[in-house]
Amino acid sequence: MHRLAAAMLVLLCCCCLFLATQQQQQLQPAAGGNRASPSCIPHERDALLAFKHGVTSDPGGVLSSWRRDGRHDEQDCCRWRGVRCSNRTGHVHELRLGSTFDGPDLAGQISPSLLALDHLEHLDLSWNYLAGPTGRLPEFLGSLKNLKYLNLSGIPFYGGVPPQLGNLSRLQYLDLSSWMGGMNSMDLSWLTHIPSIQYLNLNRVDLSTVADWPRVMNMLPSLRALHISGCSLASANQSLPHLNLTYLEELHASGNSFHHPMVTSWFWNITSLRFLYLSSTSMYGQFPDALGDMTSLQVLDLSNDYCLYDYHDDDKNMRRMITNLKNLCNLEVLNLECTLLYGWNYITGHVPYEIGKLSKLTHLDLSINKLDGTITEEHFASAGSLQYIDLSYNALKIEISSDWQPPSKLDTVNFASCQMGPLFPGWLQWNVSIAYLDISSAGIADRLPQWFSDAFSNVWFMNISNNQLNGTLPADMGSMSLQELDLRSNKLTGQIPTLPPNIHTLDLSNNFLSGPLPSATRSANLTHLSLFSNRLTGHIPESFCKYQQLVVLDLSNNFLEGEPPMCLGVTECMELVALSNNSLSGKFPSFLQKLTNVHFLDLSWNKFSGRLPMWIGSLTSLRVIRLSHNKFFGSIPVNITNLSCLQYMDLNNNKISGSLPIYLSNLKFMTNLFCSDAIEVIDSHLNSLSTICGRGRN
Ligand SMILES: *[C@@H]1O[C@H](CO)[C@@H](O)[C@H](O)[C@H]1NC(C)=O
Ligand SMILES: *[C@@H]1O[C@H](CO)[C@@H](O)[C@H](O)[C@H]1NC(C)=O
Ligand SMILES: *[C@@H]1O[C@H](CO)[C@@H](O)[C@H](O)[C@H]1NC(C)=O
Ligand SMILES: *[C@@H]1O[C@H](CO)[C@@H](O)[C@H](O)[C@H]1NC(C)=O
Ligand SMILES: *[C@@H]1O[C@H](CO)[C@@H](O)[C@H](O)[C@H]1NC(C)=O
Ligand SMILES: *[C@@H]1O[C@H](CO)[C@@H](O)[C@H](O)[C@H]1NC(C)=O
Ligand SMILES: *[C@@H]1O[C@H](CO)[C@@H](O)[C@H](O)[C@H]1NC(C)=O
Ligand SMILES: *[C@@H]1O[C@H](CO)[C@@H](O)[C@H](O)[C@H]1NC(C)=O
Ligand SMILES: *[C@@H]1O[C@H](CO)[C@@H](O)[C@H](O)[C@H]1NC(C)=O
Ligand SMILES: *[C@@H]1O[C@H](CO)[C@@H](O)[C@H](O)[C@H]1NC(C)=O
Ligand SMILES: *[C@@H]1O[C@H](CO)[C@@H](O)[C@H](O)[C@H]1NC(C)=O
Ligand SMILES: *[C@@H]1O[C@H](CO)[C@@H](O)[C@H](O)[C@H]1NC(C)=O
Repeated sequence: MHRLAAAMLVLLCCCCLFLATQQQQQLQPAAGGNRASPSCIPHERDALLAFKHGVTSDPGGVLSSWRRDGRHDEQDCCRWRGVRCSNRTGHVHELRLGSTFDGPDLAGQISPSLLALDHLEHLDLSWNYLAGPTGRLPEFLGSLKNLKYLNLSGIPFYGGVPPQLGNLSRLQYLDLSSWMGGMNSMDLSWLTHIPSIQYLNLNRVDLSTVADWPRVMNMLPSLRALHISGCSLASANQSLPHLNLTYLEELHASGNSFHHPMVTSWFWNITSLRFLYLSSTSMYGQFPDALGDMTSLQVLDLSNDYCLYDYHDDDKNMRRMITNLKNLCNLEVLNLECTLLYGWNYITGHVPYEIGKLSKLTHLDLSINKLDGTITEEHFASAGSLQYIDLSYNALKIEISSDWQPPSKLDTVNFASCQMGPLFPGWLQWNVSIAYLDISSAGIADRLPQWFSDAFSNVWFMNISNNQLNGTLPADMGSMSLQELDLRSNKLTGQIPTLPPNIHTLDLSNNFLSGPLPSATRSANLTHLSLFSNRLTGHIPESFCKYQQLVVLDLSNNFLEGEPPMCLGVTECMELVALSNNSLSGKFPSFLQKLTNVHFLDLSWNKFSGRLPMWIGSLTSLRVIRLSHNKFFGSIPVNITNLSCLQYMDLNNNKISGSLPIYLSNLKFMTNLFCSDAIEVIDSHLNSLSTICGRGRN
């Protein structure tokens, strides 16, 4: 799941950036524009105009209303976008110019003219490119003494956090987080001058040298939320004589490599905590008993991004821990993905029934651990809020009767590699509204049930690969909402029905499917199509040319014949074309000429004939090309030396004459940076190729 999440995050970001160019900035209009209220104070207006002067780029026109000329009311700076004044005194109180993701950013520097706004309480400049020519967070911000809220997150500053910020003694909210990192602080003692601080976000500020950070935080008794994820903190095992943090509700400390036993961390006694994020902290050992008293907890995330396996057992830990959780009646999210493998205690053990008593739990992730035993209905008897369940990659057996109705509506169900079969898990048809279903490698040896298309009509992701599903695909599959469907390595027979219209990834490889390829009248958004190792017959239909976004096309090991349509693969997206081991014929397919991003091309074991075209040299992304066992003839085109990424070429069993072009032995693919992105595609394709490629590298 975490890979998926990462992928989605990346996708989201791309979308955001895309949207950023599309949408208008949506800042609130200035408040305090009441007729009766005093208009803005002239020297503050001058200060704002000077601030505007420091902004060198404002593509969204955020500051276009900030003007000296214009009508009288336009000159009232209290009515300018992002500016809010006190409706009593007319002083500027708030500057809300954070760009979030919904508008083009301001670029330039933060002008010291802001110092004239000496009543300023709220300053939000987040996500703008306002790092200025020095790139440093300006010290003078520490002189805006009335600030209660300062948000500089996402501004690409680098270097030290100026201790002058400690002069902002009224500050309640401070956000210096960033995506990229770049800032650091060697000494956090300046924070102790801000006892009123409630919200502190230092995510990705490098704090690696601040050994006493818990002591500093403990001097901030008003703290409610502390974000210190990815700060390179070295440890959290400092001992504190007395805990001051009685209001702390959120602690985000993921992505710091603490490398010490979990129990030695200082924060376990903070019973006010509601959100505790400790993923990928490399802590190990027993779960602390104190966890059982943290009854306010709603989210507990102890997951790991990377699972490590080489540690020895302590098989009671998991059981103790979950038993311990039974008092946490407010728990909604429990994420222990990969947790129990990390450290000296990867866990074998059963999942205790207590888990089902967490009646507010919505999100349970115990994936990738070493849990064993049997999960029954009893485990979920009181789990009336559960929506998300991920027990994948354990050694669990799921024994739930087909007529059992879950007490909650599940939307994400992941039992990959759990033992669920041999019958198809019938209970999934009742009282669920599944959007994400992974029951791959689950030992299911059964037909797809009658109710499949109905009960799973809202599923967008489905993985039932590596089972022994037999019988046919549902004829009405075209009515489903599927976007990704993986049914590879089963025993499905019959024809491929009309595909769901939204499908973009389809893998039906390694089955016994027969008949023609599905026509591409709908589902034109297909990007990945893997149908290899079936018994498909007939031509590659012209309608496949509608798949204008295809990245991967793998039709190998079937009984396809005729010439591939010339119009195939219209775009430059295509990275992998595998048509080997069919009875395809005709010349070296001309559709390939457009596919300048193809990394992997396999036409072997077909009936292709004719000469290899000169333009083969324009397929400059090619790493692997297999043309063996065809009827090509003539010489190897000289232009093949243009293929500077080429790693493997097989021309065996053709009638090709002449010698290899002289430069072929000089191919520099191993060091060619432009080739590197191809590796993933090839690796994820044919495992068998790794041996071939290995040979090619010698
Ligand atoms: C003026 O400010 C006060 C307190 O900040 C607020 O309650 C009141 O609604 C404001 N009046 C107007 C007209 O905005
Ligand atoms: C700071 O701004 C960012 C982006 O606009 C926002 O996500 C974050 O919640 C803000 N921080 C605070 C403390 O409000
Ligand atoms: C602001 O902070 C700095 C460093 O902490 C300190 O030297 C300076 O005296 C402070 N200035 C004021 C006006 O408090
Ligand atoms: C608790 O916070 C107060 C106020 O900041 C501070 O004076 C005191 O030293 C803190 N106690 C500990 C044990 O850090
Ligand atoms: C705290 O953990 C570090 C490893 O991160 C370890 O080197 C150190 O000895 C531990 N200190 C205590 C007091 O346990
Ligand atoms: C945390 O609680 C345990 C017992 O529950 C106690 O022994 C320990 O002293 C407490 N630690 C702090 C820092 O309060
Ligand atoms: C089905 O789920 C809903 C919503 O979570 C729940 O209220 C209801 O009791 C469940 N129905 C059954 C039969 O368990
Ligand atoms: C489906 O599950 C298998 C493991 O059982 C995995 O290898 C494959 O990548 C999954 N498919 C998708 C599309 O995620
Ligand atoms: C499907 O597999 C099951 C279990 O192996 C078997 O009993 C059944 O006859 C098979 N059905 C078909 C249509 O092959
Ligand atoms: C294809 O994708 C586009 C853009 O993502 C979407 O608007 C369209 O509805 C999709 N078409 C189908 C048939 O799913
Ligand atoms: C070609 O495909 C057939 C069946 O699809 C398979 O048995 C055979 O091993 C394949 N040949 C090669 C060379 O991959
Ligand atoms: C072959 O390569 C040369 C330069 O490497 C290029 O000028 C020529 O156009 C290429 N021929 C074809 C048919 O692509």
